[in-house]
Amino acid sequence: MKISLKVFLAFLVTPLAPGADPVAPAAVAAINATDGKTIFQSVCAQCHGASGEGKAELKSPSIAGMPAWYTSTQFSNLREGRRGHDAADPQSFMMAAVAKALKPEQVKAVIAHVEKMPVQTPKGADREMANTNPQEGMQLFQERCMECHRYNASGEMAFGSPPLVGRQGWYLEAQLKKFKSGKRGAVKNDVNGAKMVQMTTLFIEDEQMLRNVVAYIMTLNPEPVASPEEQKKQIIEGSPFEAAGQ
Ligand code: HEC
Ligand code: HEC
Repeated sequence: MKISLKVFLAFLVTPLAPGADPVAPAAVAAINATDGKTIFQSVCAQCHGASGEGKAELKSPSIAGMPAWYTSTQFSNLREGRRGHDAADPQSFMMAAVAKALKPEQVKAVIAHVEKMPVQTPKGADREMANTNPQEGMQLFQERCMECHRYNASGEMAFGSPPLVGRQGWYLEAQLKKFKSGKRGAVKNDVNGAKMVQMTTLFIEDEQMLRNVVAYIMTLNPEPVASPEEQKKQIIEGSPFEAAGQ
């Protein structure tokens, strides 16, 4: 039951006629699977990667390990027009079409599967934030963000604020810009999104400040796992016994 990526990509780049409803890619609508893993592999993996690590070229976030309480809110937002309602925001518009094409029981199954997948730590270009000052970002984070996202950016269900660790730097940057410009969070009844519209408009003055805070959040991710050779070297260098024995 393999879906052609071409169908998705064609959809992504096809401008919609003004006023037209977002059309779910026919291939997604044809999925009948009810098991979360199968739905993930046949629908989500094409855009979010086989391990849920995300894809820079599609601007799709890493979603592996995302808590179901957050993904279920996002699926409701996407299905009910609070997120992805505007064709000028092609990424969430596309994601909304996917969300609408699935049945509620399929959504439930796939988000339970996503929650169980191991979190993917961003590496390389997904982690680097050029020309930023993470230390200044830390100040803003501690003053304005950690009360909801926690000191280590692991999120807080009670506030509806998701973990920010595990996401790529460019994705966090894009979302903050969407909140600030009203592309996300500005629709009536999006109570949680409204909190971020307020935060970004009141406290993030410019692009540099925005990128600095993301650069700080990236430092809260664990170091990417070193290669096996590098790990061996670290152990030898770090151990006086190994060195003495040589
Ligand atoms: C055609 C590509 C595509 C497919 C297929 C797709 N997604 Fe997405 N998804 C995206 C993109 C792009 C975004 C980023 C939207 C944005 O920028 O607001 C996204 C966003 C999300 C988000 C929001 C994450 C956040 O941090 O708020 C979740 C959750 C998600 N996708 C889950 C899924 C699941 C589960 C599936 C499979 C049922 C799936 N997606 C299938 C492209 C896709
Ligand atoms: C009052 C609580 C609150 C504060 C303070 C707050 N956030 Fe949030 N944040 C939220 C909530 C709630 C959401 C989820 C919005 C939704 O459901 O769409 C969120 C979502 C986000 C997202 C989107 C994550 C994703 O996966 O798409 C980013 C990025 C983010 N916040 C960064 C920040 C930064 C940076 C700050 C500090 C400048 C901050 N937040 C301050 C509550 C808060």
